[in-house]
Order: sequence, then C-alpha cells, then structure tokens
Amino acid sequence: MNIIYVKNNEEMALKAASIIAAQVTLKNDCVLGLATGGTPVGTYANLIKWCKEGHISFKNVRSVNLDEYCNLPVTHPESYRCFMNTNLFDHVDIDKANTNVPDGLAADSEKAAKDYDALIDSLGVDLQLLGIGYNGHIGFNEPDSAFTMGTHVVELTQSTLEANARFFDNDVSKVPTHAITMGMRNIMSAKRILLIGGAEKAEIIEKAFFGPVTPEVPASILQLHKDVTVVCVKA
Ligand code: PGA
Repeated sequence: MNIIYVKNNEEMALKAASIIAAQVTLKNDCVLGLATGGTPVGTYANLIKWCKEGHISFKNVRSVNLDEYCNLPVTHPESYRCFMNTNLFDHVDIDKANTNVPDGLAADSEKAAKDYDALIDSLGVDLQLLGIGYNGHIGFNEPDSAFTMGTHVVELTQSTLEANARFFDNDVSKVPTHAITMGMRNIMSAKRILLIGGAEKAEIIEKAFFGPVTPEVPASILQLHKDVTVVCVKA
C-alpha cells in the first residue's frame, strides 16, 4: 500500500489526476473504474483540462462506474449518470457508448446486478478510483456483518443519507434510500486501486488502512489488495 499525504484538496486532485492520466497514457484503451461524489470533482477537472490541451485522450478508454441511485431518473442532475456526464464525459473525447453506470431503474434489479458483474469481468478494470464515506463505505458498500461480493442493491445508512443530503437541497428525505453498487469482489478485482480523501476523511482513512480488516469498516478490505494507492490530505 502506498499512502501519499498532500497539503490540500488542490494537491490531492492534481496527484490523483496525474495517476489516472499516466494510466491512460500508458494504455490508451484502458478500463477505468470511476467514482462520483464531491471528492473526485477536482480530479476530473484536471483531466478535462489536460484533455482539452491535448496532453491526454480518452478516445479508446472504457469506463465502469461504481454505483447509481435506485429509482432516480438518469436525467435527474444528481443521478450518477448525469454527474459523470456533467463532471467528465461531456468535456473529454470519450465515446459515451464506452461508459457504463449501473442501472438504478431496472425492473429486475437482480438481473441488472448480474449483468453488471458480467460486464466488469469481461472488461477487466485497470484502475479503480474510489472515494470513501464517513462510515468507511466504498461505492455504496455500507458497514455490515459480512462483505458483499458482487453488484447488489443496498439500503443506504442514515450516515450516508445525511452526508448526501447536501446534494438534495439539504433535505435528507429527498435522498434516494437505495442504490445499486459494485460489490467487494468487483472492486478488489481491479488491477490497481486509487482511493482519495480530503482532510475530513482522515479519521476514517486511518481506521480503514491501519485498523482491523472488518466488514464494519468496508474500505478496510483494501488492505488485502496488492496495488493500492491512497492520496489523502493530512489533517
Ligand atoms: P464524497 O463521498 O466524495 O461526496 O465525500 C465519497 C463517498 O461517499 O464515497
């Protein structure tokens, strides 16, 4: 595990974007696992800038996103499909047909989850970007008594609903209660993992990477991955 401490969010975004840009440069048809939330926005802004300047290209890149809210139309500005379009895909030369976000609207969510598992397995993720929740979740794998392996529908915890209310007019009742998320096997099967976190995540990052491996702190499973880089702001 490689932990890189940085001074502030700008440095975190620069470092994380550099790691992703290097991946895209070394393998132009790589598969990126992508994340949403407040944390990666600055990272994506750097990638957009470097793509517009002609330093990197996403022309042959394929992507799989970690998760999506259930029962939120994809046209809703807070859907993760919409987030990805607005914060990255609309501004770089990626072919949107090569970008994938789990289907939060599927009538048969079990089938949607199985299909997403098969997609991830067939693509093979080269680099998975992750944020981390205050409760240690990655994707929407919430603290539990066991790790869930494949893509699945999850009920969001109160801590996550409250953390995400800021995207829904600060009204916790507007946050979707369920989401479809990659599971731990999906995340752990990525060749490389890059987890980023601001100063507000310092405590949970310490717990996840220096505490016991337990499903009660889902990100702690990353201690068992052979190629993890953490870029975090020193609190
Ligand atoms: P945040 O969320 O980047 O909005 O803090 C991260 C996460 O919950 O995984």
